[in-house]
Amino acid sequence: MDLKGKCVLTGVKPTGTLHIGNYVGAIRPAIQMGNECMAAGGNFLLFIADYHALNYLKDTPNLKEITRQLACSYLACGLDPEKAVFFRQSDIPEVFEMTTILTNFTPKGFMNKAHAYKAAVDKNIAKGEPNDAGINMGLYNYPILMAADILTYGSDYVPVGKDQVQHVEITADIAGALNAVYGKEVLKIPAAITQEYGAVLPGIDGRKMSKSYGNVIPLFDEEAKIKKAVMSIKTDSQDINTPKNPEEILLYQIARGFCAPELVAEIEEGLKKGGMGYGTIKKMMAEAIAKELAPIHEKYVHYMAHYEDVEDMLKAGAERARKLAKPVLEKVRETVLGE
Ligand code: ADP
Ligand code: TRP
Repeated sequence: MDLKGKCVLTGVKPTGTLHIGNYVGAIRPAIQMGNECMAAGGNFLLFIADYHALNYLKDTPNLKEITRQLACSYLACGLDPEKAVFFRQSDIPEVFEMTTILTNFTPKGFMNKAHAYKAAVDKNIAKGEPNDAGINMGLYNYPILMAADILTYGSDYVPVGKDQVQHVEITADIAGALNAVYGKEVLKIPAAITQEYGAVLPGIDGRKMSKSYGNVIPLFDEEAKIKKAVMSIKTDSQDINTPKNPEEILLYQIARGFCAPELVAEIEEGLKKGGMGYGTIKKMMAEAIAKELAPIHEKYVHYMAHYEDVEDMLKAGAERARKLAKPVLEKVRETVLGE
């Protein structure tokens, strides 16, 4: 993909403790793509979508704390705040003005079809409650705020997980609707970028790794806890000497998603030939994963202990983001309100 001079943007919701599935599926690919984009002379924006969290989290100290943790996590994982534009959504007033404008170009039917809203309605129906019970407009309008996040900076590409692709498509549709009304390209039409292979890391019980299933290998924890989680990865009862298809073995699937290629190759060979026990593989993986995570954890602890510095980084990032936002919003204002 030619990223020369392009704007790549992604947002992350503060949702609590991170696991290696988040790292493999969201954090690492976003940072990688951002680095490629910046090397090609483009802009990379990464922000914490704290107002997106408000529809489900109305606990101020907790929201503040998980925002803080998330900021430190991305820095610990290698985001360079000097190069990338790293900021908090709530520090950018332009996004909220853009949201107001976009609302008027968004057919209500788009929101009725958005996954998060539909899932909430389905849950209510299953419980025998009224369709919209407990659903606030923040959840309903979630995709419009997300569209504003994307369109306000003139983003070209949006790296996201598969669950977010629909939101980026809605964004493109909203931008297209506004452009169509005024007969010109006022807003740039963005595209979602998803990574295909290995995008979903299974958890230690074989289901998708997710904090809501309690089946995670934590990203930032004490070495002993990380090792304990790896040692509890579910295995089957096949004989140690039976040659196995690695693709069917959970340990291998997790290793392939996270571990270095040499270790993955060694496990693959051991399973194919037979003779390499699950206990041995687990020990190798536990060592490797703990070793890989130790320096990241150390950096995380450092940033958490020096959060004033992180706060300064976020503030500086917000200033840079607003500089990018201003001309885009100006153009939209002039288009809809007149000069
Ligand atoms: P969780 O399922 O633990 O609640 P989130 O929904 O908060 O995780 O996910 C945050 C980001 O991490 C999303 O972009 C999502 O696609 C990614 N992610 C979450 N779990 C995994 C996984 N098991 N494998 C790959 N990516 C994941
Ligand atoms: N909705 C995204 C999620 O739930 C987070 C997000 C908010 C986002 N605004 C965005 C992602 C803009 C990409 C672009 O994970």
